[in-house]
Amino acid sequence: MLRARVIGTGSYLPARVLTNADLAERLATSDEWIVERTGIRERRIVAEGEFTSDLAVAAAKLALEMAGLQPDDIDLIVLATATPDQTFPATATAVQAKLGMTKGVAFDVAAVCSGFLYALSVADAMLRAGQSRTALVIGAETFSRILDWEDRGTAVLFGDGAGAVVLRAEECSGTPADPGILACRLHSDGRHSDLLYVDGGPSTTGTVGKLRMRGREVFRHAVVNLAEVMGEVLAEAGLTAADVSWLIPHQANLRILEATARKLGLPIARVVVTVDWHANTSAASVPLALDVAVRDGRVRGGDLLLLEAMGGGFTWGAAALRW
Ligand code: ACO
Repeated sequence: MLRARVIGTGSYLPARVLTNADLAERLATSDEWIVERTGIRERRIVAEGEFTSDLAVAAAKLALEMAGLQPDDIDLIVLATATPDQTFPATATAVQAKLGMTKGVAFDVAAVCSGFLYALSVADAMLRAGQSRTALVIGAETFSRILDWEDRGTAVLFGDGAGAVVLRAEECSGTPADPGILACRLHSDGRHSDLLYVDGGPSTTGTVGKLRMRGREVFRHAVVNLAEVMGEVLAEAGLTAADVSWLIPHQANLRILEATARKLGLPIARVVVTVDWHANTSAASVPLALDVAVRDGRVRGGDLLLLEAMGGGFTWGAAALRW
């Protein structure tokens, strides 16, 4: 059987650092409040003229380099973003052009903070179906451009960045010990769109809009939904929480990470945490955290990784993969 295996990871953060102290100079907030409620200490912000596709290309190049591949070896790009360069064409096609690719398929997936899990699941299915052989799966966001910088309840939470993986279809015997994606589970529930949304869009206001959120309600849904989907994906893979080497969660808030790990019975030492210096980078957060843990040597061959995310919609999902 075919299984999609991660053979390279890469990530990119814009150069400009915005600390909590910087934010406290322009908003009624403080480093203490932000750290205590979220665990966030700083975030990165894109430069003028730097677009989501630029962040995505930088991350993709590093993932290709680790995989030992050239852009022409790729026949599929699935890019997750809620902050595309333009309404259309898809940012994935901008990435395709900027990488110098002239063939293959490139499209975007919109599932906000769960976008990378959705993109991974779509690419995994296409690889296993034999529709593609080698894919770039990217999460890239410039949330700083859709924040209401006057709203302390949301402005302090998000940052910009991108992460990418190269997936290759490989033959395997089909046991949970073989490397690759073992299982993916996705969910959505559109009834809660009023809890986390952007108040604009091409078909409604004709403007881009700004992010709006009822944080406490989002928090409550996140912990319940993430615990459920992690259980589902482990069951589908025929594994238990005790088999998990690393939980690589969407980096929304340290308290959500801790609560999720507790529900799984996993010590926080087994959770890859980057929220303190990345903040919430939406669809970029899981591949960013994955790349950090791969490059610093925490993730080793044979490890079982559990990825999860939840975001606007609501959408949520998880994936189990053998490194
Ligand atoms: N600085 C200081 N005070 C603030 C700030 C701030 N930046 N933001 C809000 N406050 C105030 C509020 O105005 C409120 O004041 P009041 O009591 O006088 O009305 C008080 O702090 C408490 O506000 P709450 O919203 O109840 O605070 P809470 O403890 O719930 O923390 C937070 C807020 C951090 C947003 C939390 O609810 C959260 O993290 N929710 C999850 C949201 C999230 O992560 N969304 C990302 C997308 S979805 C996802 O990725 C899972």
